[in-house]
Amino acid sequence: MTADSGPADDPFHHLHDEDYARPFARRMATAGTLVTRAGRDGISLDGEWHLTLDLFDEGLRQRWFELDDNPPSQWATPRDYEIEAGERVPVPSCWNVLKPEWTHFEGGAWYTRWFDWQPGEAGERTVLHVGAANYLAHVFLNGAHLGGHQGGSTPFCLEATAHLSPGRNRLQVYVENRRRADRVPMHHIDWFNYGGLYREVALLRLPPVFVRQASAALTADGAAIRFRLVLSDAADGEALVEIAELGLRAVVPVKAGQGEMIVPAKPVRWSPAAPRLYDVRFAFGADVVTERIGFRTLEVRGTQILLNGAPIWLKGVCVHEDDLALGKVATEADIRRRFRHARELGCNFLRLAHYPHHEAVARIADEEGLLLWAEVPVYWAIDFANPATLADARNQLSELIIRDINRASVILWGVGNENADTDARLAFMVELARTAKHLDPSRLTAAACLINRERFAIEDRLAAHLDVIGLNEYFGWYEPDFLGLDRLLANSDPGKPVIVSETGADAAPSHRGAGRVLFTEDWQADFYREQFRRLAATPYIAGLAAWLLYDFRTERRQTRFQRGFNRKGLLAEDKKTRKRAFFALAEQFATIGEDGTRHPD
Ligand code: GCU
Repeated sequence: MTADSGPADDPFHHLHDEDYARPFARRMATAGTLVTRAGRDGISLDGEWHLTLDLFDEGLRQRWFELDDNPPSQWATPRDYEIEAGERVPVPSCWNVLKPEWTHFEGGAWYTRWFDWQPGEAGERTVLHVGAANYLAHVFLNGAHLGGHQGGSTPFCLEATAHLSPGRNRLQVYVENRRRADRVPMHHIDWFNYGGLYREVALLRLPPVFVRQASAALTADGAAIRFRLVLSDAADGEALVEIAELGLRAVVPVKAGQGEMIVPAKPVRWSPAAPRLYDVRFAFGADVVTERIGFRTLEVRGTQILLNGAPIWLKGVCVHEDDLALGKVATEADIRRRFRHARELGCNFLRLAHYPHHEAVARIADEEGLLLWAEVPVYWAIDFANPATLADARNQLSELIIRDINRASVILWGVGNENADTDARLAFMVELARTAKHLDPSRLTAAACLINRERFAIEDRLAAHLDVIGLNEYFGWYEPDFLGLDRLLANSDPGKPVIVSETGADAAPSHRGAGRVLFTEDWQADFYREQFRRLAATPYIAGLAAWLLYDFRTERRQTRFQRGFNRKGLLAEDKKTRKRAFFALAEQFATIGEDGTRHPD
């Protein structure tokens, strides 16, 4: 029996081994193994790969990754996997949108490609960086298991140095997207469960000691910049940080791989109206990381959110990563289109539902001056009592925060969505809120909470552990009328800012009707007028995020109006057809200033 496999002499061992996945679970990439890509010229491995679907996980059971590349004429024994027999597919991609018969595939799949490699300088290290794979991934290089990753929307890094060969190398990624009760999210979601290697894949060539994390942010008083570095190893030494436009250059002492320094500075503040970014350079030894960073302060005062010391009212819209042609793959064009439509609505804010979006979203929002709520998919029911599930959620949150730590546009870390208020859920999510604050004291924490039905108030035990309360409410859609909203708003005294993190109604494009006719564009438009009138007049409401920008795929919705789509979009899934509610909401947003002052003329 080898360390990681069954009896070498029994060719049928894999038929009886239901514990086949355990050996691979030992080497999992986590937030602690992330390597920042900022300013690094990675070697892209995007492009054409071979893909073979693997519904029964035969690849892990039979260890397909150990097979040679020989043609059938040279096979000594029969096999069930042949790389070239797989489909040629683009990476990044979601298999669901590549072939009609793959639309609803939920299982394992094997991506394989070859690449040429020539060794670099002595001591050079090479790290594989994967933008995201939904949900579980295991990576094999030349037949060796580099490691795996759990979590469908965050990046991961695995060291490849020891297994690279001069010349031709074979890289295989097993990706598995099954929905399971112990995962984050669980198996019941209101979006489409795309699967695949759906964000960029690259190799990073690095010196023997390199920078894993590098951040710079204004101190709470706005008078200085805190620089932080985390190295690949527990090395001592000096890092150099520079912001040339500020004439700032400082040596940061590094001890056991960690360095931190506060340097007085007065950068021009980043804001939605003036999204000023600075080039920041971090260097340690031979490694250099460069970031474009906006400097701003965030705080909560009473029931207001303050950006750079001034109240800001969040005029927002929610977005999913969902595209008719691309599935969950986000392109720069797709991201900029989202922002154009949000701007046309009059938004200064987007909620990136319900999982970490592509890294480029926050980078582009930094440039364009939009504010973001980023979150992890602790969505609806979760196995809150399961320590492994908590570890998974905490790791996804940590990977999101570490990835986007330098993004001025990200102002809120969302730790959950519409979770029932139980003791297990409270303990689980308090842990997440604490994790967010520990990793990043500079940003605000939130969660999209439900209302307290017994007291009919905006009350949730988790709220005491959050900076901002998110409230999902659908009075006028799932609830019969707006009287409940009047009652709720009058009956609540949350004592901290509340953002209506979701509110919306379905409308089938071009379906019309007067009065409250469900699924008509007319009702969706009236819905927003009625909602906004009440919310904008409530002092503790600091903003709202309409649910949502575009219709999106979901298997839960099958009426003649929906046919597999959630129709609460302000635009249809073609991302062109604006519904009447789009204009109605834009009119409402135009009556409230960036600071929340109303001018209803
Ligand atoms: C919930 C949930 C969303 C869902 C929406 C809806 O609030 O958070 O993910 O799509 O309601 O019912 O449309």
